[in-house]
Amino acid sequence: MDFKDVVNERRAVNFFDSNKPVSDQLLREMVEMAAKVPSSFNLQPWSVMILRDPEEKMRLRKLAWDQPKVSEAPVVLIVLADRDGWKKGHPFVEKNFKEMVKAGSMSEVQYDWFTGACQGLYGESPDKQQAFACKNTGFFAMALMFAAKSLGLDTHPMDGFDHEGVRDAFKIPKNYWVPLLLAVGYFDRTKTLHPPKWRKTFEEIVVSF
Ligand SMILES: Cc1cc2nc3c(=O)[nH]c(=O)nc-3n(C[C@H](O)[C@H](O)[C@H](O)COP(=O)(O)O)c2cc1C
Repeated sequence: MDFKDVVNERRAVNFFDSNKPVSDQLLREMVEMAAKVPSSFNLQPWSVMILRDPEEKMRLRKLAWDQPKVSEAPVVLIVLADRDGWKKGHPFVEKNFKEMVKAGSMSEVQYDWFTGACQGLYGESPDKQQAFACKNTGFFAMALMFAAKSLGLDTHPMDGFDHEGVRDAFKIPKNYWVPLLLAVGYFDRTKTLHPPKWRKTFEEIVVSF
C-alpha cells in the first residue's frame, strides 16, 4: 500500500468486526513497525498493554465512556507514556547509552553529559516530564495507526476515558501517563462510516508572529 493511500484511507473506525481476530504475528508486526519512529535521544518512552480478553475489554469499556468499540474490537491497546523515561538509572536510559557507545556515537566518558542533558531537557519539572513522555509516545501512537492501516487493519484512538480509573483498574504504575487507548481490528463492512472529516488548510496551519 502506497504511503499516500495509508494516510488518506486511515480513519477512526467506530465499528469493528468482532468475529475477525487479529493474529499475534500481525500485531507484533504493527508494533515493530511503529517502533521505528524517532524519539528524543532515541529514548523511546512508550509501552503498550495488549487487551484481548472480553472481560478485560469490558472492564476498560466501563471506564471509557462505555464506548462500544472498546469491547467490539478484537484488540485494544492501552498506550503508555513513561514520564521517567529520561532518568539516570532507568533501564532503557542505561540500555540506550550502552547501545550508543556500542554504535560509536557516544563514548563511555560522555555518560555524565548524556544523563545531565536528559535531566536538563526533560526532567526539570513535571510539565517537562509530561511533555517528554507524551510527545514521543504521540509519534509512536500515530505510527501504530499508520502501520496498522498498511497491514490491512483498522484502528480507533480514544482519550475519552477516566485516566485515574484506568490506572487503578489495570494497576498501571504512577510513572506512566495514558495518552490514549487504541482499538485495533477490522472495520465491520455492514456498517457505514461518516464521510471523512474536515481538516485545517495549509493557510490555516501556517502562522507567523
Ligand atoms: C488522541 C485522540 C483521542 C480521541 N478520542 C476519541 C474518543 O474517545 N472517542 C471517539 O469517538 N473518537 C476519538 N478520537 C477520534 C477523533 O474524533 C477522530 O480521529 C477525528 O474526528 C478525525 O477523524 P478520522 O480519524 O476518521 O480522520 C480521538 C482521536 C485522537 C487522535
